[in-house]
Amino acid sequence: RRVLSVASECAPLIKTGGLADVVGALPAALAPLGWHSRVLLPAYPSVIGRMPRSRRLWRTDDLFGGPASVRATTIDDFPVLLLDAPHLFDRPGGPYESHGDEHVRFAALSWVASRIAIEGLSDRWRPDVVHAHDWQAGLTPSYLKYAESTVPSVMTIHNIAFQGIFGPDQLGRLLLPAWDFHPEALEYYGNVSALKAGMMHASRVTTVSPTYAAELQTPEFGFGLEGVVTMRAERGEMHGILNGIDTGVWDPAHDPFTVPFSSASLEGKALARAELLEEFGLAPHSGPLAVVVTRLTHQKGIDMLLEALPSFLDAGGAVAILGSGEPGYEEALLNMRSSSVGVKIGYDEALSHRLYAGGDLVLVPSRFEPCGLTQMYGLRYGALPVVASTGGLRDSVDDGVTGFVFDDISSAGLADALSRALSSYGTPAFDEMRQAAMARRLDWGSSAAAYAELFSSLL
Ligand code: ADP
Ligand code: GLC
Repeated sequence: RRVLSVASECAPLIKTGGLADVVGALPAALAPLGWHSRVLLPAYPSVIGRMPRSRRLWRTDDLFGGPASVRATTIDDFPVLLLDAPHLFDRPGGPYESHGDEHVRFAALSWVASRIAIEGLSDRWRPDVVHAHDWQAGLTPSYLKYAESTVPSVMTIHNIAFQGIFGPDQLGRLLLPAWDFHPEALEYYGNVSALKAGMMHASRVTTVSPTYAAELQTPEFGFGLEGVVTMRAERGEMHGILNGIDTGVWDPAHDPFTVPFSSASLEGKALARAELLEEFGLAPHSGPLAVVVTRLTHQKGIDMLLEALPSFLDAGGAVAILGSGEPGYEEALLNMRSSSVGVKIGYDEALSHRLYAGGDLVLVPSRFEPCGLTQMYGLRYGALPVVASTGGLRDSVDDGVTGFVFDDISSAGLADALSRALSSYGTPAFDEMRQAAMARRLDWGSSAAAYAELFSSLL
């Protein structure tokens, strides 16, 4: 069986967050279950630059204003379909850098995905199911519907805060029918939402943890789409499937970026910790070393972190932070730098591995977190997660067993969890928790099986 996975990012080729990790890891986990994937991605300049050789499997003279082709290639052993459309994707900056025409760029991706599903590629590959990720792929199920295709589709919500909203004046340009501009389809408070369209038109909707699937049905978490989620859930068409992690890429025993270690022999971890302190210019610490690897945004609770840190530092803790995002948070963090607060602004995959390896704790005080992967990497590398009780954080960390979970999602709640971590650090209880964390199953096995079962149910 064949699945076409449609997304705006995919590790290891192009990554800004967890979406890339998931899109990059799922194909290998689905293959043993009989589902063979091809991932369709935009051919960003950074991706093209690494493309060794490619086969052109589809082309058009006019994709929303310019010629385009789909090329099959393999980059770093990862097979991929690249949508080469220079007028849309040959741009400087990251994939989400605003050029004012995001909706066109990603509608194009979605439209091409629907053509592949309907016509097939010139090597006769045609998917049995289409898997659309986030708003960037959200129009794919709609284009399938308007072409009266019977190919089933699954819409996965990785983050409902990003909805792909644009004005109805764009409908014609994007080959979307004006007759379907109403609240049961494309319309969302006077505009079009690509994510809502996908949620309305896909055969099934999924999200990346069971708790987030429930939270999405409330106004607090649904960002205006709670009604759509509830409608699909009442029909039994909404599923929460917890993400796994790629345990080959994230393996403390064989990690090219850091000193190897395992739960049975933690000397390597102690060394990684010492190296990390040094890399961040921190003094040796006998208290816990907390790490943070994140986008610096409101979602991630950076303001709570800023407020909760002083008491943690006073009690002997240290923290190393890697992130980038809102300038205000970047500046506030940089201003806190000291012999116990190390901050690096930027995006650095290799350094992220060293942080999980060297850390005693990984802090994730998110206001909402659809799944969250950094707490999972923390578990795997024996850095106990300190997490807010929300979304996938709640579904992956057991309070007092594999980490520290706080229900009161505020700086006080975080400070309280940190003080529990501080009193446990250095005791046998902490070591026991570390063993439990490192033993936790985090691979894709059962979650990939849930996707495979869902796909099969649609045939
Ligand atoms: P989100 O996708 O909402 O950003 P996740 O926890 O699901 O959150 O995934 C974040 C991913 O991005 C993880 O793989 C994490 O290690 C990585 N990451 C986030 N910020 C950085 C950074 N500054 N440098 C390197 N990796 C980062
Ligand atoms: C989104 C979410 C994050 C999730 C990731 C992968 O970026 O914010 O919680 O882990 O997608 O599904």
